[in-house]
Amino acid sequence: MNPAPNLVLVGPMGAGKTSIGRRLAERFGLQFVDADQHVEQRTGATIAAIFEHVGEAGFRERERAALAELLADRGQLVATGGGAVLDAENRRRMRERGFVVYLCAGLESQLKRLQRDRSRPLLQRADREEVLRELARVREPLYREVADLVLDTDGLTAAEASTRLALQLATRWSIGGVAA
Ligand code: S3P
Repeated sequence: MNPAPNLVLVGPMGAGKTSIGRRLAERFGLQFVDADQHVEQRTGATIAAIFEHVGEAGFRERERAALAELLADRGQLVATGGGAVLDAENRRRMRERGFVVYLCAGLESQLKRLQRDRSRPLLQRADREEVLRELARVREPLYREVADLVLDTDGLTAAEASTRLALQLATRWSIGGVAA
């Protein structure tokens, strides 16, 4: 049994981290936290505005600070942004302070789930498919590197995916630890 103090979800945009995370948090009695929302609250600006004013690098700095703050606590389910694994310090913290679940999804599912999205700065372009493919090429190995468990969400509703995850987690993770 892994006694990590938090559950952490990683994976690309459109893998279902938020919708699955909310359900899973409820089942396990954890507090659901979306790292992007935490960044927005701390900064007082939307992710889109942050990208516009301080660029992706400025966003990544704020994302790192938010994750450090969140993961110091315990009893939370933290849904991370798709690019959080790019940073080695984030990856180390996730592994130290969380049981990490990689939610993976094929390009088609991602595109379908993100069809109506206008809020993600990296996707505000015509060649979304190309962008997602390139992000996956770079990030997929990093998702796998940090993951304690991998779930393919293709073809699953959020309810189905969270039920599957809950069953797998029951034998592998038992909350432990203290706030850092
Ligand atoms: C990003 C994913 C987004 C958000 C930002 C950048 C990425 O989070 O952090 O737009 O680099 O993949 P979600 O994965 O929750 O959409």
